[in-house]
Amino acid sequence: MNVKSTQKMASNLSKLAPSTRYQGSKRRILPWLYDNLKDLRFETVLDGFGGTASVSYLFKWMGKQVTFNDILLSNYQTGIAIIENDSVRLDRSDIEFLLCENGFRYPSFIQRTFEDIYYLNAENKWLDMVSFNIKMLSERYNGDTLKKKRALAYHALFQACLCKRPFNLFHRKNLYLRKACVKRSFGNKKTWDTDFPTLFVRFADGLSKKTFSNGRDNKAICKDIMKTGNKGFDLVYLDPPYTRPNEKRPKDYYSLYHFLEGIVDYENWSARIDWSKNNKCLIKEKTEWEKNSPEENFKYLFEKFQDSIIVVSYGHPGTPSIQKIKHLLQQYKSEISVTKRKYSYKLNHKNGSEMYEVLIIGR
Ligand SMILES: C[S@@+](CC[C@H](N)C(=O)[O-])C[C@H]1O[C@@H](n2cnc3c(N)ncnc32)[C@H](O)[C@@H]1O
Repeated sequence: MNVKSTQKMASNLSKLAPSTRYQGSKRRILPWLYDNLKDLRFETVLDGFGGTASVSYLFKWMGKQVTFNDILLSNYQTGIAIIENDSVRLDRSDIEFLLCENGFRYPSFIQRTFEDIYYLNAENKWLDMVSFNIKMLSERYNGDTLKKKRALAYHALFQACLCKRPFNLFHRKNLYLRKACVKRSFGNKKTWDTDFPTLFVRFADGLSKKTFSNGRDNKAICKDIMKTGNKGFDLVYLDPPYTRPNEKRPKDYYSLYHFLEGIVDYENWSARIDWSKNNKCLIKEKTEWEKNSPEENFKYLFEKFQDSIIVVSYGHPGTPSIQKIKHLLQQYKSEISVTKRKYSYKLNHKNGSEMYEVLIIGR
């Protein structure tokens, strides 16, 4: 590819990367990230807080050897499907197998547990069936192909699940918002009313078109970043949950997406639920990241990855401040650049506050 066509494709990266409705996804700003990262010299990269894998996808597209990491099992499946996977796709017969009753004795855990919480009864029944069919892909495949087919199916299922949720989250028991016949200023009723199979096929097909090999051995892992090894990556990209003004603690992704975690760990879901909560979320165990102060975490990670180029995505205003993060990074890096661009999150338009997406690069 010549320089001109690379630039043209780069400006289109937000559309090239798989679509998602995940909080904090960097998909929309991939062209800006590319502009800021393209001149750095690196071959191997760790995306430490990988989320939807949108930034890993950018690195993969740039021809780097990528290690995607996220603490959530559901995001790990996305990492396998999009980053580790080079060529496996769900074909028509897989999709038929996944979306049809195949004569198994299907479980009914979602129907029994989540009635009137997130989805309609018929949708819960469908979710029980498809979750089981994903496990039963083992009747058709094994080994690495099974791992990747399952990951592709989970990814498509999760995107469909997010689309059909008010705010695209599982933080509250609020199915009533979907059912009420009122004029709304939020949400996408048309998508809520689109049936699950249609959305599933849409996402599965969409992903098939975006699957590619960059000739590298890319990997997905699922670890608390505080516990990963330092494998001598040339570059480490950190996009951690951050604390916005007027918030006491960083965004808790586990609580926002617990339902998807449950689907991946279906057999153990019941034992992991906090039955005292209206929304039947999972019992929460604090991660290492949550046990310490944000400053302590940054200091620990900067020290651990001091031999790599360190790139931090952060929001301004946030806690700790950009100034503070820069100061911590200066203890390990001699050359630091800070770039920012306006980024008003959709749900923040109301209060008119100006927010910035900030990129801190330490070399
Ligand atoms: C801001 S999001 C990252 C978004 C990502 N860059 C993207 O474009 O989708 C932060 C991610 O960090 C993950 N996370 C939170 N604590 C973590 C930890 N201790 N170790 C690894 N990942 C963690 C969350 O699950 C979440 O997906």
